[in-house]
Amino acid sequence: MNDNQKSPLIKLVYFSEAITPLDNLDVEMILKGAREKNHDHHVSGMLVFCNSFFLQCLEGPRAEVNEIFDAIHSDARHFNMNIVEVSEIQKRQFPDWDMDYIGDVLMKKLDLDLDLPELEEYEQFYPPHLSAETLEKILVHMRKLKTS
Ligand SMILES: Cc1cc2nc3c(=O)[nH]c(=O)nc-3n(C[C@H](O)[C@H](O)[C@H](O)COP(=O)(O)O)c2cc1C
Repeated sequence: MNDNQKSPLIKLVYFSEAITPLDNLDVEMILKGAREKNHDHHVSGMLVFCNSFFLQCLEGPRAEVNEIFDAIHSDARHFNMNIVEVSEIQKRQFPDWDMDYIGDVLMKKLDLDLDLPELEEYEQFYPPHLSAETLEKILVHMRKLKTS
């Protein structure tokens, strides 16, 4: 991803709930067009879908991330959108991914790999009860699993 130094880079993390039960294929369909659009807007990131919750990190030039986020926010396929974090960044965490996707199978590995008491307490992936720090750890860990 080539970054134009003039435009500040930001990262935005949110979670939301799927409106209807979805399987991996449904989520891949959502992302089919999204990846192309993200690429055109120099937006990269990661989308986790587990236990009917989406957790997404969008990163890129500020105006572009806002434009994409606007479209996602209006999408009727999910609801209860909660912004977890918006920050200016020097470097992307997911520079090579127009939008990578993590489904339940990889998420199941989380419990085994990470010592996250918050996760153990609720047993299932339930973002409303998780801190920004824990959600960030999940995203970073997923990136490591995908690249290892
Ligand atoms: C959970 C979720 C994540 C999405 N992620 C993206 C994304 O990363 N980039 C994107 O362009 N669209 C994404 N979409 C699709 C957008 O909501 C929207 O349908 C798409 O950007 C087309 O919008 P437009 O018709 O206004 O151009 C996502 C949708 C959902 C439900």
